[in-house]
Amino acid sequence: MKTKLNLVVLFTLLLFQISCTTKTPTDLTKTSFIPKPVSVTATGNTFEIKGSTIIYVQDKLKQTGGYLAAELNKITGLTLEVKTTDKAPAKGVYLDLSEGNNDFGDEGYKLTIDKRLITISANNPAGCFNAIQTLLQTLPVKADAGEPLKIATGVIRDYPEYAFRGAMLDVARHFFGVDDVKRYIDFLATYKMNVLHLHLSDDQGWRIEIKSWPKLTEIGGSTQVGSGEGGFYTQGQYSDIVKYAQERNIMIIPEIDMPGHTNAALASYAELNCDGKASELYTGTEVGFSTLCTDKEITYKFIDDVVRELAELTPGPYIHIGGDESHVTAMKDYIPFINRVQKIVVSHGKKVIGWDEIANATLVENATVQFWANVKNTTLGVKQGAKVIMSPAAKAYLDMQYDSTSTFGLHWAGYIEVDTGYSWDPATLVPGISKENILGIEAPLWSETVTNIDEIEYMVFPRLPGYAEIGWSAPEARNWDKYKLRLAKHGKRFHAMGIDFYRSPLVPWE
Ligand code: ACM
Repeated sequence: MKTKLNLVVLFTLLLFQISCTTKTPTDLTKTSFIPKPVSVTATGNTFEIKGSTIIYVQDKLKQTGGYLAAELNKITGLTLEVKTTDKAPAKGVYLDLSEGNNDFGDEGYKLTIDKRLITISANNPAGCFNAIQTLLQTLPVKADAGEPLKIATGVIRDYPEYAFRGAMLDVARHFFGVDDVKRYIDFLATYKMNVLHLHLSDDQGWRIEIKSWPKLTEIGGSTQVGSGEGGFYTQGQYSDIVKYAQERNIMIIPEIDMPGHTNAALASYAELNCDGKASELYTGTEVGFSTLCTDKEITYKFIDDVVRELAELTPGPYIHIGGDESHVTAMKDYIPFINRVQKIVVSHGKKVIGWDEIANATLVENATVQFWANVKNTTLGVKQGAKVIMSPAAKAYLDMQYDSTSTFGLHWAGYIEVDTGYSWDPATLVPGISKENILGIEAPLWSETVTNIDEIEYMVFPRLPGYAEIGWSAPEARNWDKYKLRLAKHGKRFHAMGIDFYRSPLVPWE
């Protein structure tokens, strides 16, 4: 009897050792998912991805299946096959739109990992895309040659808290090329964010080709902060960015900031200035000194042309009109200006978004106010029936320094260490603004001090996953002390992705 018991103990120990040395994952609940899914249940087995694993998709999911195959191929060095089918296979990976589950909404999903079959079910391709991001987090970013790719079995049911989960990139103060923007989009996609707001014009630069006003990019796009070369996107390049984003469930929101933050346009066209003289190009970092001439008719012709061309390039419903920090536009001129510009946006079939100052005007139906600084403005917007995007500068600005030793960034809204960035709830931050008023959250990266992709990465990581989790996971499921342990595990992923991230001392990096 005793010998039998010893044998059992020995055998168990041996099994344990084998499972430790080959790192066979069997407990799905141990995976450090960000954002935290609604529910994860483990079933104690293992699925293995091999060269012979086939990805089966319904016809509408061909593109999503292709994305999954490409991502898995990057990890494994394999070339997985994608096949179209309309019924569940016995083994492989299956992407399925037939679930019809109300809980999942537009972007939720169920991910079922069995020993022989992984099934992704959702109401929409966007839900399948999100499930793929979850699945990819069960795997290394890059596997060693010959390393088996094993995934613990179980079931994940998941859906977002907010429909709008965004980040902004200021390409006006410093210009970033198409490849940099695509890398930024990949970062957002990894963490299930679905909006990229591009700040396309400011005092220092105009970054989008407008065919009816070519000098905007010829002159206005020719420089940037610090007098560097600047740059701009041709309409073809811009459409390429929009398509790349669309394939990753990301909507691009273009912003043309006005009536302030317009020096680049004012330097390009003399007639937009009240005195009829083109201003000088500007490469400093002051704000609030420029304004379009609000009582000249040509100003509205200009805006109509710009919004028309931009709307044609924009499949998404929104055009962002800026409206912030127009310190040299008198309020008596600002209000009718914003009223008129909103109507131009609507006339081109788009919805208006503006920074919180626009709530001083009479908002059109379906306008959205982006809260960054002023509670009174934002509350005024809510009273007019507008929805709110939460981008509180002191919590969500990616250009704020982590602490006083940060090399890049500013600190006018304070220092934002990783815990400060993570630990807030959009629905309770501002009295009078509650969840039903809120479309979602956005973390903006202004680029006065940020000049290249490495510096972008340093400011964005590791804070971005936290903003993604605030947007996706319910507040009661979020907890800094637990989150920091999950984030610590993502350090290896950042490293493998070549991301130059800030190694916050608050996170126990592995
Ligand atoms: C802003 O930070 N001026 C919106």
